[in-house]
Amino acid sequence: MKIIITGSNSMLAQDLIPLLKKDHEVKSFSRQELDITKKDIAAKIIKSNEPEVVINCAAFTNVDKAEKERDKAFLVNGTGVQNLALLCADAGIPLCHISTDYVFDGKKKKPYTPFDNPSPINAYGESKLAGEKYVQWILNKFYIVRTSWLYGRGGSNFVSMILKMAKERSEIRVVKDQINSPTSAMTLANGIKHLIKSGAYGIYHITDSTEGGISRFDFAKKAVLLAGLKTKIIPVSSNEFPAPAKRPAYSVLDTTMTELVLKISLPDWGSGLKQFIKANNKKQRC
Ligand SMILES: NC(=O)c1ccc[n+]([C@@H]2O[C@H](COP(=O)([O-])OP(=O)(O)OC[C@H]3O[C@@H](n4cnc5c(N)ncnc54)[C@H](OP(=O)(O)O)[C@@H]3O)[C@@H](O)[C@H]2O)c1
Repeated sequence: MKIIITGSNSMLAQDLIPLLKKDHEVKSFSRQELDITKKDIAAKIIKSNEPEVVINCAAFTNVDKAEKERDKAFLVNGTGVQNLALLCADAGIPLCHISTDYVFDGKKKKPYTPFDNPSPINAYGESKLAGEKYVQWILNKFYIVRTSWLYGRGGSNFVSMILKMAKERSEIRVVKDQINSPTSAMTLANGIKHLIKSGAYGIYHITDSTEGGISRFDFAKKAVLLAGLKTKIIPVSSNEFPAPAKRPAYSVLDTTMTELVLKISLPDWGSGLKQFIKANNKKQRC
């Protein structure tokens, strides 16, 4: 399959590109090469490469910054995605677009299915919902893939931040009242690989498996343990870390439909984390 990937420097794309290159003809573009907010440039690239699917990894992802830079977040996550959807509609090809659990408010207290109504509580979530809406309004053939707490080798993330702090300090305070499922970028990349071959268009949730969610505290504790560090992890409330953007307290995504449709089992969160930390340790020794 001929595939175009936008946002090639994103954490996700660092794992997605090499994985898809094993079986497909992949052309990937950074923001400098293909700014999704510039429709003419995107149009030229899509027309000349004749892809069979476009995968959008480009996004404004700084959740706190989005509160102050609302227009910028909406420009990339809303208008940019609208541009790609219009171009895919013209070309008669599907768009695979990556979205977030932050489209939900966290009040359900049970895992969110793709059939639940979004109701974001921060500007980032609102802008990502705008992107989802444009995809659904413009295209018949689309894959919207929501994920949460993404970590991978190609970007700064919660795990790398915790491990860095754990090496420098004897104790770290981590919030215990935000519950979610972490997602290894490899798990997400693998799910996308299956999805784009499926032709089963729709909204999908892809995360590692947690049986109802874990807290950031649990996540940090396990990461430190697996890295063989002795740092003490102290559970605290979110009130100790006031941030510009509100976060949903519980935004676990229900992945049942993904596993049924794609006939895959999403890995346990511990195994993805173990693999990531092992690879990280190896990289540091080299
Ligand atoms: N990280 C998470 O915890 C998380 C959770 C849920 C959902 N997601 C979603 O998953 C997807 C991938 O996330 P990620 O963490 O891998 O992203 P990321 O590492 O933050 O990378 C985002 C990429 O988008 C590029 N970009 C920004 N504006 C652009 C534009 N106008 N045109 C083209 N490229 C642009 C950035 O380019 P520069 O490098 O030049 O800045 C960057 O390479 C996103 O859709 C995100 O919303 C992420």
